Amino acid sequence: MSSTKTKIGNYEFQNCLMNAAGVYCYNREELEKIINSEAGSFVTKTATLNIREGNPSPRYYDTNLGCINSMGLPNLGFDYYLGYLLELQKTMPECTFFFSLVGLSQEETHILLKRVQESEFKGLTELNLSCPNVPGKPQIAYDLETTEKLLTEIFNYFKKPLGIKLPPYFDMVHFNQAAEVFNKFPLTFINCVNSIGNGLVINDETVVIKPKNGFGGIGGEYIKPTALANVHAFYQRLKPSIQIIGTGGVLTGRDAFEHILCGASMVQIGTTLQKEGPEVFKRITEELKAIMEEKGYKTLEDFRGKLKYL
Ligand code: DHB
Repeated sequence: MSSTKTKIGNYEFQNCLMNAAGVYCYNREELEKIINSEAGSFVTKTATLNIREGNPSPRYYDTNLGCINSMGLPNLGFDYYLGYLLELQKTMPECTFFFSLVGLSQEETHILLKRVQESEFKGLTELNLSCPNVPGKPQIAYDLETTEKLLTEIFNYFKKPLGIKLPPYFDMVHFNQAAEVFNKFPLTFINCVNSIGNGLVINDETVVIKPKNGFGGIGGEYIKPTALANVHAFYQRLKPSIQIIGTGGVLTGRDAFEHILCGASMVQIGTTLQKEGPEVFKRITEELKAIMEEKGYKTLEDFRGKLKYL
């Protein structure tokens, strides 16, 4: 029987599939549905210091090939998610969860990470460097100078396991430059990719979401080739101590298989989870295991990163 167990840092997970930040993770009711599914972990909605309502609706729209969204970081605030995570640490000590967060300024990011550092939180922290949807705020990781400075400051005081959520890059030079920066730090993981930022979907003559006159992050089937390229480009370039979470375009077990083949140690599901609900984890786990069994792979290590070239 094949296993989809995995590890990130020193933490073990019974399944490599989990939600992507933003989907089924706004409050405890949604997070409980992920816990009660076949998923191996969950990540919270990206938390800011204070509660945020987010952008005006409609702010999410499904299309045949995926979705467009401009949520604008609606979340219940840092304390809400930390409180729930600390509670789960007591009731489910055998499980590890991911806490996604980012400040609306660098100062706020430091406040949040210092609070995590001082707290009892024992899980994995994911710093979101790639939100495309807050008007006036750039995707931080497209500015590598700012990213390097921010990470330098963070690792002066942050000693718990930390990963970063990245936007997709589209140029070999950018893969090289970004990897060179990330390799300078004791990151536990990077997560590739966030949505492809600032796409536009039109229905008849009109945009489909209200914020930013219709511009929003693109997810789903559209983005799999970009996601796989980012996972593999960083797998080729990063020191082996930095693991990769693959996110983007996972509709089937085959898609998850391809992310792992490109080097992913964990695979997150966003748009497809939004469309299908948490039962999706059972379906995709079964599909992934069927592929592994057909190929004679017993564990993810048997094929992780082993993409073949012509
Ligand atoms: C939102 C979208 C993102 O892609 C992200 O990384 C964080 C927040 C949002 O619109 O809420």
